[in-house]
Amino acid sequence: RNLVVLGVSGSLRKQSSNTRLLSFIGGMMPAGIEFRMYQGLASLPHFSPDLDGDEAQLHGAVHEWREELRAANAIMICTPEYARGVPGSLKNALDWVVSSGEFMNMPTAVISASPHPDGGAIALQSLTLTLKMMSAAIPDEASLAVPFVSKMIGPDGSVTDTNTLSSLLNLVRALSQAIPEK
Ligand code: FNR
Repeated sequence: RNLVVLGVSGSLRKQSSNTRLLSFIGGMMPAGIEFRMYQGLASLPHFSPDLDGDEAQLHGAVHEWREELRAANAIMICTPEYARGVPGSLKNALDWVVSSGEFMNMPTAVISASPHPDGGAIALQSLTLTLKMMSAAIPDEASLAVPFVSKMIGPDGSVTDTNTLSSLLNLVRALSQAIPEK
């Protein structure tokens, strides 16, 4: 049985450094773990409790988002910081799964990447609070802020800096080890 890690980028930008970094980390998965990228962030409607009820009436994009999360054994989120917070589109996606509970006990890695020296640490902190409220399982080593990202990654997202690489290897290991044996 193949295990699946679902990658979620908090940036909708075509040349996003976060999306590129996430693809690169996805390529570091150990044998037996498939990495998939969630592509539906921009298709989600704005969350309202009024739209969240009857499964048959649910917006198709919301249904797909929940299905992709349910099919995953672990999640990896990589996000920019916008004005000291989590980008609205990512927060909106997370608000859609507060009631449905897909993150409950879900092994989850959280990464922020920014050209600034703190690597988007405030957004990372806020994202972590949100996910913990939803009972996500975030291993200590599966949380990382990547500063100076423009210098840190190549066009394909590849990381050459040895410290960052070793933190990423630790993150991937911590996340895969957090997946329960079935
Ligand atoms: C930013 N950026 C930014 N960076 C940061 O470290 N802290 C911040 O609060 C913000 N705020 C912010 C707001 C808005 C509206 C934009 C467009 C940008 C800069 C941001 O880190 C940079 O543009 C990254 O390259 C965005 O990530 P992606 O799209 O490359 O993944």
